[in-house]
Amino acid sequence: MVSNRAADVTPFIAMDVFERASERDDVVHLEVGEPDFDPPEGVVDAAISSLEAGNTDYTAARGKPELRRAIADYYDRTYGVDVDPGRIVVTPGSSPGLMLAMAALVDPGDPVVLTDPHYACYPNFVRTVGGKVETVPLYADNGFQPAVADFEAALDASTRALLLNSPANPTGAVMDGETLEGLVALAERTETTIVADEIYHGLDYDVDAHTILEYTDDAFVLDGFSKRFAMTGWRLGWLVVPPAYVEAVNRLAQNLLICAPNFVQDAGVAALESPPERLAAVRDRYRERRDLLLEAVEDWGLDLGYTPQGAYYVLADVSDLPGDSLEVADLLLSDAGVAVTPGVDFGDRAGEYLRLSYATDRASIQEAIDRLDWLFESIDR
Ligand SMILES: Cc1ncc(COP(=O)(O)O)c(C=O)c1O
Repeated sequence: MVSNRAADVTPFIAMDVFERASERDDVVHLEVGEPDFDPPEGVVDAAISSLEAGNTDYTAARGKPELRRAIADYYDRTYGVDVDPGRIVVTPGSSPGLMLAMAALVDPGDPVVLTDPHYACYPNFVRTVGGKVETVPLYADNGFQPAVADFEAALDASTRALLLNSPANPTGAVMDGETLEGLVALAERTETTIVADEIYHGLDYDVDAHTILEYTDDAFVLDGFSKRFAMTGWRLGWLVVPPAYVEAVNRLAQNLLICAPNFVQDAGVAALESPPERLAAVRDRYRERRDLLLEAVEDWGLDLGYTPQGAYYVLADVSDLPGDSLEVADLLLSDAGVAVTPGVDFGDRAGEYLRLSYATDRASIQEAIDRLDWLFESIDR
């Protein structure tokens, strides 16, 4: 019989939509968060050279020293933050990093606080380790920005972890330094450990994203190569671990993961050493796509109420349309061949929204807009 924990894990609706949409070959995909860019130049060559050199065996569970040093250098270069490579654990994608953090932190029944909306999979990571999900609502009228005051009521001495995500999926909100600093102080007061998912760092458009490590060493940071380096299928990420948890996380990684693929770790070094201008150019392209989509959303009369400042998602309010967001997403797929993710995937507060991803090429986004212009005109509101 399936365990209660497994039974509690909900489907990842974006992937369900993707599966259904993939059965047709005329669909424009705005449902998945999969960058359409290639990895930076040199990454494929680094992987091939490493394979040819025979780097196909296990590495240390915490990762190759060269990569952990390259990650530490990246923090120094990007944020002026000194991170001891001894606190960095390389993981096969950031998702296993989150699993390690949850396993290291959470005992059955421990409360873990998330924002609502949140990344669809977070509650399932918490449930898998037997933790209790608690949420703090965010609101479109202040750009889905978390405010420290909203967390004060939610965090107390029993709270085990606070899971933050900036730039955020699905809202595109980027937290400012002052809020991060305030949350660090609150977490210290309530002895809560912050787990900061910084996977969309590098993809911030009008503001600079800050790492939580600018304000504390006592937080887990989840990051990786999937988004800013467009390396989703390479499965490479990392976890920065608070000093007190390094030994436990290494033990968990040894047992649960063994290691990230050896030659892929060498490709990771090449990605981190790629010229910053390359990421800047990718960012400019995303910004243009975002602006194109924002203009269209406004033309369709769907209230956005804020400008997403990072990641590559737009959360559009469809509460004025007939049906709930699942029905509206179904209609967009069946009648216009445009796949989007219904907001219910991202928490109760996102239930009346659709998430549109602009991690696809501009021509496809324009095609989706043309199809939806027609559809939204024909809907009676
Ligand atoms: C907020 C967030 N965290 C983590 C992940 C997982 O990324 P990875 O490919 O590194 O496992 C995603 C993927 O979409 C995400 O949106």
